[in-house]
Amino acid sequence: MTLQQFLNSKNFNSEINQILLNIEAGSIKMYGKLNEETSDIFGPSGEKNIQNEEVQKLDLIANDIFIDVFKTNSNIAKILSEENEHTIDLNNNGKYLVAMDPLDGSSNIDVNIPVGSIFSILENKEGGFLQNGVDQKLACYVIYGTTTMMVFAVDQATHGFTLNTKNKQYILTHPNISTPNTGNIFSINEGNFNSMEKEIVEFINYCKELNPNGKRTHTGRFIGSLVADFHRNMLKGGIFIYPTTADRPNGQLRLIYECNPIAFIAKYAGGESTDLTKNILDVKPKNIHQRTAFVVGSKQMVNKLLSLYKV
Ligand code: AHG
Ligand code: MN
Ligand code: MN
Repeated sequence: MTLQQFLNSKNFNSEINQILLNIEAGSIKMYGKLNEETSDIFGPSGEKNIQNEEVQKLDLIANDIFIDVFKTNSNIAKILSEENEHTIDLNNNGKYLVAMDPLDGSSNIDVNIPVGSIFSILENKEGGFLQNGVDQKLACYVIYGTTTMMVFAVDQATHGFTLNTKNKQYILTHPNISTPNTGNIFSINEGNFNSMEKEIVEFINYCKELNPNGKRTHTGRFIGSLVADFHRNMLKGGIFIYPTTADRPNGQLRLIYECNPIAFIAKYAGGESTDLTKNILDVKPKNIHQRTAFVVGSKQMVNKLLSLYKV
């Protein structure tokens, strides 16, 4: 079943369908760029973004591609992008707001490791982009990996589509994704080990415990592309943790266009997420580029970590 056929079979409103088709179109363009036989798209752009991070050429290409497709949609009022300090006005009367990380994992581009794009769709109402994640109407990511996949949560379910690269159509390959309740993967950048809260250190040590036969109980996997780390964990069972650290006292990941959409997709796949004080989807954002500590994954694993904070 193609994405279009899937949308025809559901009763999502037409504006949501249109946004999904915009993401489809933009991501197919991105797929094309990533697979072009040219080196023009690699390397730094020479600019720094609002968060003082080095902007890669492909960050800007991805940003332009998705802004251009959303511009064709009169239902979108504003875009918030990781790559733009201010929100971009489109159509004042538009019913929806789009927040995006056009290219996630950009430090991985030049070394041939999967990258992604992340989207959070909110209603255009009071509060603008500063709405709790639980009120998202649609959350979506695209992963450009060994295959290109589009995964989204809408209407209380999470579905995954895989791009047929010959005819450029997304095919429903993962209907109603349900993440395992527990798993054995833990994903964290242990380069930050010495500046993590003691509960996180305790959890990492718990993951490293051996079973009575002297065999490992967990496996460590962290590649530094949130989308790819999360996608693997959602399908296999695991936990992703990016806590506050000395380098990143407020956390590394952005609440509105990284954590919230991923947490929404996790929720409707049966997973759990937290900022280590409350469910991340219940956090009221204060500013558009706000960072946060972020934990997402299999329910039992997230609850195990949270239980260490309560003693
Ligand atoms: P982005 O490329 O959009 O800036 O996001 C990078 C993020 C995320 O994808 C990843 O999980 C994290 O940064 C990696 O951070 P560290 O390099 O500190 O591990
Ligand atoms: Mn990112
Ligand atoms: Mn990015």
